[in-house]
Amino acid sequence: MILVTGGAGFIGSNFILDWLAASNEPVVNLDKLTYAGNLENLSSLENDPRHLFVRGDVRDSALVAALLRQHRPRAILHFAAESHVDRSIHAPGDFVQTNVQGTYALLEAARAYVAELNESERAAFRFLHVSTDEVFGTLAPHDPPFSETTPYAPNSPYAASKAASDHLVRAWHHTYGLATLTTNCSNNYGPFQFPEKLIPLMIANALAGKPLPVYGDGRQVRDWLYVGDHCAAIRRVLEDGRPGQMYNIGGSNEMTNLNVVHALCDILDRLVPAERSRRGQIAFVADRPGHDRRYAIDAGKIRRELGWQPAHDVTSGLEHTVRWYLARQDWVARIQSGAYQEWVERNYGTRGQA
Ligand code: NAD
Ligand code: DAU
Repeated sequence: MILVTGGAGFIGSNFILDWLAASNEPVVNLDKLTYAGNLENLSSLENDPRHLFVRGDVRDSALVAALLRQHRPRAILHFAAESHVDRSIHAPGDFVQTNVQGTYALLEAARAYVAELNESERAAFRFLHVSTDEVFGTLAPHDPPFSETTPYAPNSPYAASKAASDHLVRAWHHTYGLATLTTNCSNNYGPFQFPEKLIPLMIANALAGKPLPVYGDGRQVRDWLYVGDHCAAIRRVLEDGRPGQMYNIGGSNEMTNLNVVHALCDILDRLVPAERSRRGQIAFVADRPGHDRRYAIDAGKIRRELGWQPAHDVTSGLEHTVRWYLARQDWVARIQSGAYQEWVERNYGTRGQA
């Protein structure tokens, strides 16, 4: 079995759903259920014995050690993080706690666990750390994309905390021989993305007739990847990645934010015609402090070494995503009303930990 952290979040829940659709290997899912964790994403796995959910913090060393001892996973896939750049600007402390301290605690728990495995179990064990392209900083318009050898230059508190965690992972491999793998991925989009991130926020606001808040001039560039393609890349890295290595993951789909918002408006106008184009709802607002201008990923290494390539281009991926949000407006509404958390409190608030 595998231990996934942060499996109730956007990418983690997509990963677990894809994993259990493709294999019967069970998953223990350790998630604190912060505002970003939503068990409703995994409601299709209710009563599925292959998915064991445990509410807890990755910093809780005793809990993690107990889970490792009890379930003896062959791998830890570490998705759990505070992930929203804007929140990191307002309240960086949680990012240091979860992304840095949490990764440290998990590495130490993994190191102790591996020391007690037999030789073949130890040889098979992997610690896969899910990271981001934001650790590399920002690119000028004609710079080559980020590769695995691009120097780290994180600019936001979020990026700095992820960079710190990547360095810890690197050191635990180099110093202690822990079989780590690090993936650095570009912007994801797709089902179950929390509606504070650009794409789901714009879809929700467009449908509600609200302004579409574009930061600054909207000409910042991101390299968009459909979440299912990210999950497939992680599976490939887990199976055949070389311990100690980093793998950049991206879709080579560079778009300005304004073009993304235009594309979403056009899809919505086609699927749900309105009197006026949703483009008219675009409102330019004050820029994000320290806003990185451009991200782009060179995914040549994972293509060459592991044969991964994305299955979705951005046109089909965005259309699929808009259709998903149209069909699941109830999911967005329960997040906006806070109802998804009320359920969590009712169900888990008084239970304590496993
Ligand atoms: P998310 O914010 O949607 O989900 C994070 C999950 O982690 C939530 O379920 C939350 O409850 C859980 N969590 C937070 N703190 C925790 C703690 N202390 N202990 C246990 N669980 C905790 O994030 P996401 O977008 O799914 O990102 C997942 C990972 O992928 C992160 O490490 C992020 O840095 C990385 N990443 C994200 C993107 C992207 O575009 N979203 C791109 C590249 C890399
Ligand atoms: O690059 C990978 C990163 O992508 C991940 O590591 C992060 O976890 C993930 O949140 C994402 O970070 P971004 O800051 O790029 O994503 P976000 O959706 O917040 O913003 C995308 C772009 O859109 C960014 O340039 C800021 C802009 N934006 C965002 C919001 C929420 C707006 O213009 N208006 C908005 O309201």
